[in-house]
Amino acid sequence: MDIIIASDYEDLSDRAHRMVLTQMEEHTRTVLGLATGSTPEGLYERLVADHRGEEVDFSKTITFNLDEYVGLDPSHEQSYHYFMHEKLFDHVNINPSNIHLPNGQALNLTHECERYEAAIDRAGGIDLQVLGIGRDGHIGFNEPTTSLQSRTHIATLTPETVEDNARFFDSKEDVPRFAITMGIRTILDAQKCILMASGEHKAEAVRRAVEGPVTASVTASALQMHRNAIVLIDEAAASALERKDYYRWIQENKERLAGRL
Ligand code: GLP
Repeated sequence: MDIIIASDYEDLSDRAHRMVLTQMEEHTRTVLGLATGSTPEGLYERLVADHRGEEVDFSKTITFNLDEYVGLDPSHEQSYHYFMHEKLFDHVNINPSNIHLPNGQALNLTHECERYEAAIDRAGGIDLQVLGIGRDGHIGFNEPTTSLQSRTHIATLTPETVEDNARFFDSKEDVPRFAITMGIRTILDAQKCILMASGEHKAEAVRRAVEGPVTASVTASALQMHRNAIVLIDEAAASALERKDYYRWIQENKERLAGRL
């Protein structure tokens, strides 16, 4: 894993933005895996601003979102469909048929999971997967004890996740208890992963994901098994890391090597 410590949220968003742009410039037809939540909002704002300045073209970009709540209509303000359209898709020239999110209202949810997994395969797999992290160390909605070999499946949210996400709903009771989420194996199949985290409330989850053992109890720790995973965090999210200075040292030295890599 490459651990990159940004000074603050703005710096974190700038760096994630540069990584996504580089990917899109190098491969016009890019398959992006996208995440919801507050963390990637700065990244999406920057991509929208680029598009307004005509610096980025989404016409050949294909997207797959990590997850969606079960039972929410796409027009529901807290659905991930709504979030993604509001924050990104409605403001760029992406072809609507290239946008993919699980359908949390499918009559047969098991079939929907299989359909979603097959659609990712048909697109040739994900080139770059953007990830956030939950306080319990989840990625997507892969809550503790989810198999590290899981594919897209129906997840039951932990009470902690329900509580964290309640801030977006009128009350805790309104937060769906189930979601469709890409599995850990699905995520690990992406060519490249960028896990973003900001704020002290994420510091412990980041520490367990990066420095703890690989365990289904902290599903983000599975990224330790990925060949090309970047953990992009700000100072506050990095505050619990034991080897923080070493990660900085690696980055400084790598920058010196940059021209030769
Ligand atoms: C939800 C999403 C995750 C996201 C997490 C953190 O649980 N399913 O994909 O990473 O929230 O959200 P935030 O970035 O708002 O802290």
